[in-house]
Amino acid sequence: MNIQTQIQLKPFNTLSLDAIASHYIKVQSQQELVDALNYAKQQQLNVLILSGGSNMLLPEHIHALVLHMDIQGIEFVSEDEHSKTIRVGAGQIWHDFVLWTTENRLYGLQNLALIPGLVGASPVQNIGAYGVEAGEFIESVQVYDRQLEKFNLIVAADCDFSYRHSIFKDDPNRFVITHVTFKLLKHANLMLNYGDLKQAVGDEKTAENLQKQVIQIRQSKLPDPKEYPNVGSFFKNPIISEQLYDHLALAFPNLPHYPQAKGGVKIAAGWLIDQSGWKGKQLGMVGMFHKQALVLVNYDQATLADVKATYHVVQHDVQQKFNILLEPEPVLFDEAGLIRSHLE
Ligand code: EPU
Repeated sequence: MNIQTQIQLKPFNTLSLDAIASHYIKVQSQQELVDALNYAKQQQLNVLILSGGSNMLLPEHIHALVLHMDIQGIEFVSEDEHSKTIRVGAGQIWHDFVLWTTENRLYGLQNLALIPGLVGASPVQNIGAYGVEAGEFIESVQVYDRQLEKFNLIVAADCDFSYRHSIFKDDPNRFVITHVTFKLLKHANLMLNYGDLKQAVGDEKTAENLQKQVIQIRQSKLPDPKEYPNVGSFFKNPIISEQLYDHLALAFPNLPHYPQAKGGVKIAAGWLIDQSGWKGKQLGMVGMFHKQALVLVNYDQATLADVKATYHVVQHDVQQKFNILLEPEPVLFDEAGLIRSHLE
């Protein structure tokens, strides 16, 4: 087992925060995972699971064993008349997997092209874009259950998928995802309910063109983390009550809003931030991106403290103007490698 010490995690988190991990190991198999977890137990170290690092906020020093998930592989499992089932290692790059599905004429995930991160993270916050969520195509998730100390297969119905949510988000220290099994369609059923995308796809209604247009839309609005370190949308789109929406709509009739099937109204956080004067604005080294105000960017060598200073002011300004408290989307870690609430 190759445990390394004092490892810089800056290249492994897309916000490019300086973060030194006291202990670090790359995990490439289920056996390596079990060995690493046993080592952490013996050494009384907390465990921090690192995937693509595209949704995490890390402090400058972390005293914990960082498990960098790198289990590879795409295997065919079964098929029926309409679909094929594919099992994918948690360490596969999400976007490359989406491209692979399209090349292999397997459909459903095209709207999710170019989302940063790895396959193993896709069920955690049930990644979603342009009217599709990963959970719709996940059949099951293979995990190591740290509570029961064994591998387990969790079927999608038990994952409790909803907007940016799953059981893996509720109970982050319990499960380590090793594989995700997807059930993909043999015949494309294009999801074009997102206005800009429908227009961009035009008359060429193929999954290949849909994927191409999603990539173009994302590239036109969202910063490339290599150029502008970021974690995608920094805040969730808040779901507010119908009463609060009706009240706000009187003052802000253009407020982008999406009534939810289960009640409440989803509001575009990017619009709220934009209207609060934060689009393209910086506080120190951290600011909100000039083409999409929902994306926070590390413009220089910011630390977690700098990131917090900026986003607290953004939250404050939005709350003052709209009476809505924005909830950050990325996961916040403390120096012991544990997940912390943004509200503390
Ligand atoms: N808007 C503004 N100003 C801005 C940004 C947005 O006025 O600076 C307005 C837009 O004009 C539009 C509305 O807000 O009317 C929504 O904007 P957009 O379509 O860009 O989507 P979003 O709600 O900001 C969400 C997801 C994205 C996903 C897109 C497309 C969340 C938190 N974000 O963004 O996901 O790609 O929809 O489906 O749900 C991510 O999670 O990292 C992510 C990028």
